[in-house]
Amino acid sequence: MLTCQELKHTILFMFEPTVYQERRSRLVERLQRAGVTSGIVLFPSNGESPINYPDNCYPFRQDSNWLYFVGLNVPNMLLMLDVSDGKPTLFADDITMDDMIWTGPMESVADLARKSGITDVQPLGAASSRVEVAISRRESFYCLPFYRAETKERLSLLSGLSPRQLEASISAELVDAVISIREIKEPREIAELEKAVVVSEAMHQALLKQIRPGWTGYEAAALVQYEAQKHGCGLSFATIATNHGETLHNHSYDYVAKDGDLVLLDAGAEVESGYAGDLTTTFPVGKSFDSHQAQIYDLLCNVFLDATSALAPGKKFIDVHRAACLSLAQGLKEIGIMKGDPSMAVECGAHALFFPHGLGHMIGLDVHDMEALGEDRVGYGKTMHRSEQFGLSALRLAKELQPGMVHSMEPGIYFIPGLIEKWERDNAFPEFIDYNELRRWKDLGGMRMEEDWLMTPTGARRLGPAFDKSRKAIENWRSRA
Ligand code: GLY
Ligand code: MN
Repeated sequence: MLTCQELKHTILFMFEPTVYQERRSRLVERLQRAGVTSGIVLFPSNGESPINYPDNCYPFRQDSNWLYFVGLNVPNMLLMLDVSDGKPTLFADDITMDDMIWTGPMESVADLARKSGITDVQPLGAASSRVEVAISRRESFYCLPFYRAETKERLSLLSGLSPRQLEASISAELVDAVISIREIKEPREIAELEKAVVVSEAMHQALLKQIRPGWTGYEAAALVQYEAQKHGCGLSFATIATNHGETLHNHSYDYVAKDGDLVLLDAGAEVESGYAGDLTTTFPVGKSFDSHQAQIYDLLCNVFLDATSALAPGKKFIDVHRAACLSLAQGLKEIGIMKGDPSMAVECGAHALFFPHGLGHMIGLDVHDMEALGEDRVGYGKTMHRSEQFGLSALRLAKELQPGMVHSMEPGIYFIPGLIEKWERDNAFPEFIDYNELRRWKDLGGMRMEEDWLMTPTGARRLGPAFDKSRKAIENWRSRA
């Protein structure tokens, strides 16, 4: 039995060493195909990140590119990958006896390196001489964008390259090569993503079963986290458990749930391997939806079905997003909130009053997969450009879907009082929005439904076990609560 200290520095999850070797070879091949035939890729791992003093750190989260290409869930390492021959060198220091007293024992760096298929291991202090040799040979350096200033500073101290030189080494070829590899999930990654969705569903069902009028948002969020941790998982992002779902990323738990409220739960598990689940469920705190909530919830279910039916490999995700918007505009017209031609309304962006975000994003080792490499580069590729139209401008994924991609499907319907009032004052799209009718709905709040989907060679399938979110099924859960 491991103690918790030993657990902290023991790598519990890794694929076979050949997995990482093959991934690095593929990366080198793609760089070479893009015309980068020599030079050094600098891959820094993440370090510990202090909250308010050096020894009180945020929970350690390894860099996702590092997890993908190296796999070692250990801070303060550096990999140099020689593009000319594909050889990796791992720079890291063994922990000292003083460290071990505080953190528990850890395998030697040489043993860790073997788990990643690496034999060339050097102390961190040798990194700058390796860089000097590369400079003397007029070799170039290639880096990915930095999303933590401290990583750039640490890499600068280790390598002897200035922060400006490191910024100048950020390579579009490297970014594109990494995206093109990571965006197509291997079967072993899909298995990990399935695990993440299984636990994410358990988190959602726990709250769906247990919340009662009188619970605070803090209790709701704590139950969701408890369910994740009970399964040995963390959270893939900060839980949204709110009775005001119309605020899209509402992280406040400072409320008391009451009969008549809707709860929007957007939460997911991160499994040991780092893969993320991301689900959203909306349900009543009481036993059933009221009649306005029921109409909008049924419409959300329709929009969801229309959007998922539109998924196909080779299709652009922006067109799937448009199918969801059209379904929404048609449904809101039937209810009487919108009017006119639904296709024209979508073309003009009038529906975005009720759905001001995108239909989905890729999911993998990051819940918004690879967004640290650039949201547009990941979601739009090299040839597509993001629209500036309100609503469409928030679409994270637009490009052509390929088998092996995993992405969220997350349509929502929101009544945002401040935005409605502004559009009415501005008389925005009077030909498409019936502001008189809308006044009767303005305080309904917000709903979202989210699942994680895998593109296959012939279509698409949702990840995780069946979870019926129809109104009837949700009300069944609630009436048993
Ligand atoms: N689940 C949070 C998000 O997709 O932004
Ligand atoms: Mn999401």
